Amino acid sequence: MFRNLKPVGRILYGRNSFDQLGDILGELRIKKESYVLFLVDEYFDGKDFLKRIPLEPQDILKIIDVTDEPKTKTVDAMVAEIKGLGKGNPVSVVGIGGGIVMDYAKAIRLMFTNEGSSALYQGLDFIKNRGVHCTVIPTISGTGAEVSMTTVLTGPIKKLGIKGNFTAADQLVMDPELIKTVPEPIRFYTAMDCYIHNIEALNGHRRSVMGDSLGIESLRIFREIYLSEDSRTPENEEKLMVASYLGGLSLTYSEVGACHAMSYGLATVTDIHHGLGNCIVFNQLEEFYPEAVKEFREMMRLNNIEIPQGVTASLTPEQIEKMIDVSLTLVFMWAHVSGPDWEKIITRDKLRGLYLKM
Ligand SMILES: [Fe+2]
Repeated sequence: MFRNLKPVGRILYGRNSFDQLGDILGELRIKKESYVLFLVDEYFDGKDFLKRIPLEPQDILKIIDVTDEPKTKTVDAMVAEIKGLGKGNPVSVVGIGGGIVMDYAKAIRLMFTNEGSSALYQGLDFIKNRGVHCTVIPTISGTGAEVSMTTVLTGPIKKLGIKGNFTAADQLVMDPELIKTVPEPIRFYTAMDCYIHNIEALNGHRRSVMGDSLGIESLRIFREIYLSEDSRTPENEEKLMVASYLGGLSLTYSEVGACHAMSYGLATVTDIHHGLGNCIVFNQLEEFYPEAVKEFREMMRLNNIEIPQGVTASLTPEQIEKMIDVSLTLVFMWAHVSGPDWEKIITRDKLRGLYLKM
């Protein structure tokens, strides 16, 4: 089966393009009572940036706690709260922040038009009704959440994305000015999600000219940024946004690999965020990606980044086995890495050995 790609509807790209957000939303405010639901990363709480948001009196602005990865119960609670106000559905749900905030926006907009808990829709193509309009505005780059058809959610039973025809955002605003204040090492860890997406997409069995073309170009731009003397120039901010976008898009025609399969396991028993978790795992994957792991370490060195060591040392044997269980459920990823006979190669012993090195 080929994937019927549904990328983001419209894209606005350019430095200070955020200032056009009011015009974009203005087109949607067709009635006097039309309102917009803004979800804003807590990083901006109390900062002057909030004054730049084109907020009308009837709009709702929520500051989003990004301590944990997005949860179905938070999605459900927010939708219930907004519905309880009796204002009808918003004309757009706008997510301003990193992958967590953008994924919340992409999920919440679906739950205004689909009944029950968002946990019912985790998986592929369970969403039946188009959601309300959704705008995503990344303020940190690397995850590809701004373009992906998936909104990753942790539910009562599983951590799994809602994915389908209605999941991608309708409008993307890419303003490189917005990522310039992201602190280190968070910017590095998140950016490396993009690097790892490309390395994984380009090294495996599920490949195509479409996926490769996007991944190769994303990787080329990424190397220009992170192998340069200064990864934080204005030009490199512009490049990083584009690399993240192209990397996210390339995955639709390929698949992530060993690092993501193991980092999802790590995330289920620790509270380590996706970007950092990937870096911790990738640093131990010479067996799968020997040249890229060397290059990754060179990028760390150039950017004075250190990866936490010994993160699995305090875990119980049961927790280690749980990580392996979760990782082995990601069969598409492992089949991409090692082919149809992956189960003979990716053994519990191999994964245990790797986890214990982290
Ligand atoms: Fe990722």
